[in-house]
Amino acid sequence: MKFQAPKGVSEYFPPRSSWFERVIWKLEESALAANYRLIETPIFEDTELFARGVGETTDVVSKEMYTFEDRGGRSITLRPEGTAGVIRSIIENGLDRGQLPVKVFYTGPFFRAERPQAGRYRQFFQFGIEAVGVDDPALDAEVISVAHLAFQKLGLVDYQIQINSLGDQETRSRHKEALLTFLRGRNLDQETMERAEKNPLRIFDDKRGDIQKKIEAAPLLSQFLSPTSIEKFQLVKNYLNQLQIPFAVNDRLVRGLDYYTGTTFEFVHNRLGAQSTICGGGRYDGLMETLGGQALSGIGFGLGIDRTLLALESEGVELTDRQYVDIYIIPIGETSRNLALELAVNCRRGGFVADIAFGDRGLKGSMKAADKIAAHFVLVLGDDELSSGLGRLKRMSDGEEFSVSLTSLVEELRAFTSR
Ligand code: HAM
Repeated sequence: MKFQAPKGVSEYFPPRSSWFERVIWKLEESALAANYRLIETPIFEDTELFARGVGETTDVVSKEMYTFEDRGGRSITLRPEGTAGVIRSIIENGLDRGQLPVKVFYTGPFFRAERPQAGRYRQFFQFGIEAVGVDDPALDAEVISVAHLAFQKLGLVDYQIQINSLGDQETRSRHKEALLTFLRGRNLDQETMERAEKNPLRIFDDKRGDIQKKIEAAPLLSQFLSPTSIEKFQLVKNYLNQLQIPFAVNDRLVRGLDYYTGTTFEFVHNRLGAQSTICGGGRYDGLMETLGGQALSGIGFGLGIDRTLLALESEGVELTDRQYVDIYIIPIGETSRNLALELAVNCRRGGFVADIAFGDRGLKGSMKAADKIAAHFVLVLGDDELSSGLGRLKRMSDGEEFSVSLTSLVEELRAFTSR
C-alpha cells in the first residue's frame, strides 16, 4: 500500500525546504530586530477559545475548524490562527502585568479545512507578531513596518499594502445597523441575506459579481468613524509616510476574523492570482477582555509563509540554498570507514559541515555524489592513507589536491577556508 499526504497540506523537502527555512530565518530576524521575542503556544486549544476569540459567525470558526473530542471528552481544535492562543497565554501567564507592550513572535503550522487550491492549504505555515498593551498609532506603524522590512529583506517587491480603519465598537455597531437596513432593501437571495443578518460586513468579501454590483452604494464603515478613530488613523498614515512605506487606503477592506478594530491592513502580492494576500493583520482592542483578561489593546499580523515562498518564486528571486558541505569523506574498504566516521565528527566539532559516502558506491559513484551535493572538499580514505596518516584533500572548485595530515584535518581545513 502506498500512502499519500492528506489532501491540501503543504510539505517542504530538499531543496525547497532550504528556501522555506531561509524565509523563516529572515522573518524571525526582522522581528528580533524590533525587539519581539519568541512565544510558543500549543497547536491545539480549547475549541471555545476560537469560538469566542475569532467569532462564531466567521467562516474560520463555523466551517473550517478541525475540531475533535479528546480522550477526556474535551472539545479540542487545531489552531486555525495564532492571535487567540497568544492572548490566552499572555493572560494565563501574566505577561500583561510586566513591561508593556508585550511584543512576541511565532512561527508554525495552522489548520483550516478550506477547499485546497494554489496558495490555500489545510495545513499552512504562518509567521506572526503581536504587540499587546499599548494603544499608540506609532505601534501600528511599527507592526506594518516589520512585515514590510521582512519582505524587503527577502527581496520581494511586487506587492501593495492596503490599509483601513474599522473604528471602535460604537462605530461598528452604528455602521452595522445602517448596512443591514441597506441590504434588506437590496432584494438579496435568502441565503445571502441570512448570512448578512448574522454578520453584514462579510458581504464585502462576497466574490460574486452580481452581489458586488448590488452593494456598490452600500454604506462604508469609513463614513461612521468617530473623530478619535479618524485622528488615530491619520497618525498611522503619517507615520507610514514618514517611514516611506507605500500604502493605499482601501475602505472596503474587511478581514475574515471578528476581533478587529481600528487599523487593519493586508499585503497583497500582484502575481499570485486568487490567494494573493501574503500578510494580514490589525488592531484587536476588545479581544483580551473577551478572553477574560484586562481591557488592553493589541495589534499584530499573520504572514503566510507558503504564499511568501510562492511570491518569491513568481518574482524569480534567487534564494540561495543555505545547505552546503565543507568536506565529503569517501572511505574505500571497511577499515577506513571507522576513521571516516571519526574524522567527520571531528570536523563537525570544529564547525564544519561534513558528510560521508555511506554504503558501497565505489570511488566513481562517490565522486559523483560529491559533485551533486557541491562539496567544497573531498577526502578519499584508502589503505595508503590509513597507514601513512596522510590524506589528499581535493578542492572541488579547481580540482587541486593538497596533502594533509589526518590527525590535524580540522586545522588544515581551517587554513584553507579561513574559518
Ligand atoms: P489571516 O488573514 O486569517 O489572519 O491569515 C494571515 C495570513 O495567513 C494570510 O494573509 C495568508 O497569507 C495566510 N493564510 C491564511 N489561510 C491560509 C491557507 N488556508 N493557506 C495558506 N495560507 C493561508 C490571521 O490569522 C490573524 N491571526 C492575523 C493577525 C495576527 N491579526 C492580528 N494579529
